Amino acid sequence: PSKQRLLVVANRLPVSAVRKGEDSWQLEISVGGLVSALLGVKEFEARWIGWAGVNVPDEIGQKSLTKALAEKRCIPVFLDEEIVHQYYNGYCNNMLWPLFHYLGLPQEDRLATTRSFQSQFDAYKKANQMFADVVNEHYQNGDVVWCHDYHLMFLPKCLKEYNTEMKVGWFLHTPFPSSEIHRTLPSRSELLRSVLAADLVGFHTYDYARHFVSACTRILGLEGTPEGVEDQGKLTRVAAFPIGIDSDRFVRALELPQVQNHIKELKERFAGRKVMLGVDRLDMIKGIPQKILAFEKFLEENPNWRDKVVLLQIAVPTRTDVPEYQKLTSQVHEIVGRINGRFGTLTTVPIHHLDRSLDFHALCALYAVTDVALVTSLRDGMNLVSYEFVACQASKKGVLILSEFAGAAQSLGAGAILVNPWNITEVAASIGYALNMPADEREKRHWHNFMHVTTHTSQEWAMTFVSELNDTIFEAQLRT
Ligand code: UDP
Ligand code: G6P
Repeated sequence: PSKQRLLVVANRLPVSAVRKGEDSWQLEISVGGLVSALLGVKEFEARWIGWAGVNVPDEIGQKSLTKALAEKRCIPVFLDEEIVHQYYNGYCNNMLWPLFHYLGLPQEDRLATTRSFQSQFDAYKKANQMFADVVNEHYQNGDVVWCHDYHLMFLPKCLKEYNTEMKVGWFLHTPFPSSEIHRTLPSRSELLRSVLAADLVGFHTYDYARHFVSACTRILGLEGTPEGVEDQGKLTRVAAFPIGIDSDRFVRALELPQVQNHIKELKERFAGRKVMLGVDRLDMIKGIPQKILAFEKFLEENPNWRDKVVLLQIAVPTRTDVPEYQKLTSQVHEIVGRINGRFGTLTTVPIHHLDRSLDFHALCALYAVTDVALVTSLRDGMNLVSYEFVACQASKKGVLILSEFAGAAQSLGAGAILVNPWNITEVAASIGYALNMPADEREKRHWHNFMHVTTHTSQEWAMTFVSELNDTIFEAQLRT
C-alpha cells in the first residue's frame, strides 16, 4: 500500500535558511526537540509547512527559497518582520511560552505585556491564518494534517473553516499548565475553542492532557469524558502520546570512524577528570543558572573533586530578539565567569560554557564520553536531551540527573536520579552521589532507561498519533 500522506505544520521548519546572495540560500538543520523528533519519522509520505526563520521581503528571494526548500520536502510560510515581532517574539515566546512553563512574566515587563496583548494576539491569529492558507493550497483529499505546538493553537479552527472534511490533529510539545494558570490568559477561551476544532489533541503526558480537559470544562463549561471533550454531541479526542527519539540513529553514529576519533580526542582532553554535561537551548525553562549554582555548591563542599571534574555546558542561542533571553545570556555568563574565577587554575577551569550549537556527530561523541548528564529544567514538555544521552551510553553507563519537572521524569524516573532543580542543596548532593556511584548501580539504572528509550521511539510516537487520528475520525463517522 502507498504511504499515508502527511502534512506536518509547525512554526519551525526542520531547516532554517541563511541568505547567501540574491537567489542563493544555505539551509541549516534547526535546533529543538520538535524538529529532532519529527526528523525521526519516516513511515509517511510527509511534507513540512512552516517558517524558515528568515525575513524574505522580495519576490526573487521567495521564489528561490521555495525552490531550495522543495528539495527537502519543505514548504515555506513567509512571515514579515512585524508579524514575527508580534506573533513569534511577542505572543508565542514572551507570553505563551513562559505561561505554559509556569514561569510568569518578569515583574518589569508585566504591564507592558498586558498593554501589547491585544495587538500581539491579533498578529497571532493573522499568522495562524497564513499557515492555514498555505496548508489549504497544498492539501489533497485524504491527507492527514498534523499541527504542532503553541504557535499554532488557532490553526485547527482555520483549517476546519476551509474544509470540515480535513483530518486535523494538534500536538503540544510543551507542558499544558494547570487550568488556574491558563485561566489568566485574556485569550483563554478563544484558544481552547480553536484547538477543540481538531479531531485529535495530543500531549506528552497524561497530566498535561488532564489539565487541558479541566481548562475546557472549567473555562468553557464543556463536558469532559474519559475520551476527551464533548461539545453538543461533538467529541474532540484528547490523549497522551509521549514523544521519543530515533535511538538507532544515535547508536549507529557512535560506530562511525569520525565519531570514534572524536571520542578518543575528548577522552584524552579530559583524562583524569569526570565529565559532566549539560545540553540546552539557552532558555529560562532549562534552569541553567540553577544548575551552575548547584555545581558551584558541589565544588565548594568537595575540595577534593575540584581538579577531578569538569562541567561542559552547551548553551544554544535561541530567540535572541526576545529581551528575556538576552538577560538570561548575560546572567549565565556572569555566574560562569565568577565560578571559573573562583575555582579555576592557570591551566584549567571547572566550567566550559559554549554559546553555540554542535553538529550531530560532535553531540553524539560528547554524550558518549559523559559520566554524568545534568538536566535541570524548571519545566520541560519532555526533554529529548535526556533520551539522547541515554541512547549514547551503552558502553559508559553514566548517570542521568533529571529534573522532576521534565516530562521525561515520568518515563526515565526509575533509572535517573530525580531532583528538584530549585533545591540547589539537593542537586549538589546528587552530583556527589552520581560521581561516586558504584558500577553495578549505574548499570542497572542505565539498562532501565536504555530499554525505554530504544522501545519508545519517535517513529512509534508518530504512528500511534496518526492511527489514533484515523480511528477517531472513523468512529465519528459511525456515530452520525
Ligand atoms: N540539539 C542540537 N544541537 C545542539 C544542541 C542540541 O541539535 O547543539 C538538539 C538536541 O539534540 C535535542 C534538541 O536540540 O534533540 C533539544 O530538544 P529538547 O527536547 O531537549 O529541548 P527543546 O530545545 O525542544 O526545548
Ligand atoms: C521547543 C518548542 C519548539 C521549537 C523549539 C526551538 O522545542 O516546543 O516548537 O521549535 O523549542 O525554538 P524556536 O523558537 O527556535 O523554534
